[in-house]
Amino acid sequence: MRWLITGASGFLGANAVRALQPRAEVVGMVRDAGSAPWCERTATGDLLSAESLAGAVDEVRPDVVLHCAALADHRACEQDPDLAHRLNADASGTLAGAAASVGSRFVYISTDAVFDGARGWYAEDEPVSPTSAYGRSKAAGEKAVIAAHPSAVIARTNFFGWSPSGDRSILEFFTRELSSGRRVPGYVNYVVTSLFVEDVIDSIERIVEAEEHGVFHVVARDGVAKADFGRLVAAEFDLDAGLIDDVRVDGPDRDLSLRSDRLGHLTGTAMPSQAEGIARARERGNF
Ligand SMILES: NC(=O)c1ccc[n+]([C@@H]2O[C@H](COP(=O)([O-])OP(=O)(O)OC[C@H]3O[C@@H](n4cnc5c(N)ncnc54)[C@H](OP(=O)(O)O)[C@@H]3O)[C@@H](O)[C@H]2O)c1
Repeated sequence: MRWLITGASGFLGANAVRALQPRAEVVGMVRDAGSAPWCERTATGDLLSAESLAGAVDEVRPDVVLHCAALADHRACEQDPDLAHRLNADASGTLAGAAASVGSRFVYISTDAVFDGARGWYAEDEPVSPTSAYGRSKAAGEKAVIAAHPSAVIARTNFFGWSPSGDRSILEFFTRELSSGRRVPGYVNYVVTSLFVEDVIDSIERIVEAEEHGVFHVVARDGVAKADFGRLVAAEFDLDAGLIDDVRVDGPDRDLSLRSDRLGHLTGTAMPSQAEGIARARERGNF
């Protein structure tokens, strides 16, 4: 199977290239050749150029496009919601349309931030309710993708692991800060179902192999507050959990936990817990 993986220089895309390259034909899409040296093959494409996206898809003719590229920085999205919409929504629709026109399957990486976090344990078929510019742009991306490619997969996720830059993940934040003996804030009222990044990729591969489509929640089986995630990291890496200060996010409590019923039915197994994911991450070592 030939995969075209966008955002191959970023956290998820780089991990996807690393995981899939040994067992599939993989082409990483990047803006700048050389920004993803872990790719055996690259194609260039910029989300802001519809022509370059169509060109990359036409050149590679992938069986499946795994669309990881995005403006994933929440603050940058708040600062420029128009750019967030162009990158996360418009370009996703354009790329999905290009994939459809050459018969490629399409997986759009989405996020738990399409929900408001008022209640938690959102199911795949619940209406979205984003409260941030990032969440709104990703929710609009879901719609644009389905309009352009009705049999696409929408994979809503939240993940941790090791990134090429070393600073993209909450796991990296806690291991770095606690190893240096620095005090860190840990949010007690912000809960997510974050999954180890390699398990995200394995799950997406299962969904693609099963030729499924529609919305899948690709998450851990347990919801954990960020402060408690830090304590799990401290326990696994023999670090001082006493350095974590409990703090609250401004505004209402946030519970962005997702149910992953569809994935559970597909695999017939429970998703890993966050503690299990942290243990796997420790076995793997850095990116
Ligand atoms: N991180 C999380 O916990 C999380 C949670 C839920 C969902 N997600 C979603 O997961 C996906 C991957 O996120 P990530 O954390 O891996 O993000 P990331 O590390 O910030 O990587 C973003 C990628 O997008 C590329 N990109 C940005 N602007 C581009 C443009 N104009 N043209 C082409 N490529 C462009 C970047 O390339 P350059 O290197 O050239 O900038 C980079 O490869 C995103 O869809 C995000 O919304 C992330």
